Amino acid sequence: MELENLLDPRLIIVTGKGGVGKSTVAASLALAAAGTGRRTCLVEVEGRQTFSRLFSTQTWDFSEREFRPGLWGLSVDADASLREYLEMFYGARRLSRIVTNSSAVEFATTAAPGIKDVLLIGKVKEVERRRDPDGRFHYDLIVLDAPPTGRIVNFLRAPDATTELVNIGPIRDQAQSVIDMLLDPQRTNVHLVTLLEEMPVQETIDSARALDEVGVTLGPVVVNRVLSPRFDDTTRKAFEGLDVAATQRVVAKADVELTDQGAEALLRIGTLHLHRLELQERMRGILSRRLRLPLLELPYLWDEHFGADELAHLAEVVEESL
Ligand SMILES: Nc1ncnc2c1ncn2[C@@H]1O[C@H](COP(=O)(O)OP(=O)(O)OP(=O)(O)O)[C@@H](O)[C@H]1O
Ligand SMILES: [Mg+2]
Repeated sequence: MELENLLDPRLIIVTGKGGVGKSTVAASLALAAAGTGRRTCLVEVEGRQTFSRLFSTQTWDFSEREFRPGLWGLSVDADASLREYLEMFYGARRLSRIVTNSSAVEFATTAAPGIKDVLLIGKVKEVERRRDPDGRFHYDLIVLDAPPTGRIVNFLRAPDATTELVNIGPIRDQAQSVIDMLLDPQRTNVHLVTLLEEMPVQETIDSARALDEVGVTLGPVVVNRVLSPRFDDTTRKAFEGLDVAATQRVVAKADVELTDQGAEALLRIGTLHLHRLELQERMRGILSRRLRLPLLELPYLWDEHFGADELAHLAEVVEESL
């Protein structure tokens, strides 16, 4: 797997530890893909309206909407998926009216835990397989903002668990075709998102192993919120030799007078920055040695408000890496 093939699969599943930037990365990948001319669908599975807020659009729901040129958005939930599923297989409009509330989903979930996930991924597969009248795939790429690493294995194993439970009928066929999609390296890649910090790195390494066992193909690891060095080598060496008095002298050259406390604070900030960089370097080394997957690094953006402009910036970084 090479970085330049990052956007080549038909389905990219984005996962990672909670809060590391899964949604941000999914949105940036989708923007980058649309930027390269791919018809792209960004999918949210937990109805949290992360993307409608990020992109300041109307609320997302079960019907896809083109919110940027070449970029569609979809929010899938188990209830709507179940209704669509029943209609598709049983033509059961009447039946579907009975399950407009979530009781049917609750029932199905209790009867066969995991069926909810099968319905969700089933919907994604339907979108992935959809063709236009001319026979071409409707979308070139689907980007899925998936559950976090703590739940991703069960989420992806749900179709498998279902085929073990249900031997015949449309549910089994549906589950099997979802498995076919997930395990095909040309069709599906899982991108793990991480930060260059101890806990997320450890969780990424553990999840990579677990996902390997599931049989899915891992894409590049997306390293988010990477700090770039503020010091070059010469400045760093000069900085490391500074004490309070020397700092005051250096700053005085720029006509700024610093108190002892001010100089101490400045030294502390600089030292912290250097420690962060060392930690990043160590974590980067561990990731590359343990995973042997390409790393796609996205910068830490310091802007006060994180929105569409910041996403566009990250999407540019993605496009440059292709
Ligand atoms: N590269 C970045 N630079 C600066 N801030 C970032 C960056 N990436 C993400 N963030 C911020 O970090 C926070 C978490 O990001 P995001 O919501 O994408 O994480 P998540 O993994 O999807 O979280 P959750 O597990 O809650 O779904 C958000 O406030 C987001 O704006
Ligand atoms: Mg999220």
